[in-house]
Amino acid sequence: MRSEDAQDKEGGVSRRDFLSFSALATAALAGLGILAGVFRFFKSDARYEESSSFKIGKPENFPVGTFKKLDDKKVFIFSDEGGLYAISSVCTHLGCLVFETETGFQCPCHGSKYNQAGKVTSGPAPRGLPWYEITQDVDGSLVVDSSREVPAGTKNRFA
Ligand code: FES
Repeated sequence: MRSEDAQDKEGGVSRRDFLSFSALATAALAGLGILAGVFRFFKSDARYEESSSFKIGKPENFPVGTFKKLDDKKVFIFSDEGGLYAISSVCTHLGCLVFETETGFQCPCHGSKYNQAGKVTSGPAPRGLPWYEITQDVDGSLVVDSSREVPAGTKNRFA
């Protein structure tokens, strides 16, 4: 009489080998899960956000009459007789990017309108477009900080 193992082997893998392999595979998966948990525990959750301040170039690049739209930074840069200033291009309603018009700015999403100083003139926008602080770095470059608002109308002169 043949043993049970011998009978199973005739058809391929024996039942004992199959169960042993299954147990090993299960143990290996459990071990990987534990290792993943351990690595996750020690891994920092720190998230690195893009800096809110950015250089826009030297003052000589902004002669009186300059208007620059920096889409990637979501800001408009102006230079007039009063000085240099930066106004956000993000609509204060739901965050669409506004575009410039003859009289100021307009939002394409829900129609908010702003005057040239960024003050709301119509639409659902709850407040005007923020003006951002501009400083000068030690290398002479101008730096806009979109995390630091200044009162609307604040203009800067740089040498
Ligand atoms: S997002 Fe600008 S009006 Fe709604």
